[in-house]
Amino acid sequence: MEFNPTIVAFLCNWCSYTGADLAGTSRMKYASNINIIRVMCSGRVEPAFVLKAFRKGADGVLICGCHPGDCHYHEGNYKCLRRFHLLQRYVQQMGLEKDRIWLAWISASEGKNFAELVDRFTENIR
Ligand code: FES
Repeated sequence: MEFNPTIVAFLCNWCSYTGADLAGTSRMKYASNINIIRVMCSGRVEPAFVLKAFRKGADGVLICGCHPGDCHYHEGNYKCLRRFHLLQRYVQQMGLEKDRIWLAWISASEGKNFAELVDRFTENIR
C-alpha cells in the first residue's frame, strides 16, 4: 500500500486560498491528503504554527502566499520568505529534512499551478 502523507498547507486568504478554491471549482484533481488552513497573509504564519503541525503529526508543511509585490499587506510575503529560510535550518537541526517545508507563490488565477504544486509536494514527501 502506498504511503499517504499528512500535509498541512497554510494559504493566504487573498491569493493562494482563492487559487486553491479555483482548482476546486474547476474540478481539477490533486492529492487529497492536504489539510488547508486559511490565514490572512503568509506573513501571519508564525514558525510556531509550522512546528506545531509537525508535532501533531504532519509529514510536510506547505506555505503559500501572494507573488512578490502582490501581498495585500505589502510585505507580509517577504517576511514569510525570511522566516522560511530560518525555519528550514531549524527543522534540519531537529533532524528533519528541510524539504519537509515548501514555500510557494500562488495567485488567485493559478488554480492549475496549485493543483500541480500539491501533487509535486505530496510526491516529494512520499
Ligand atoms: Fe497574500 Fe500577504 S496577503 S501573502
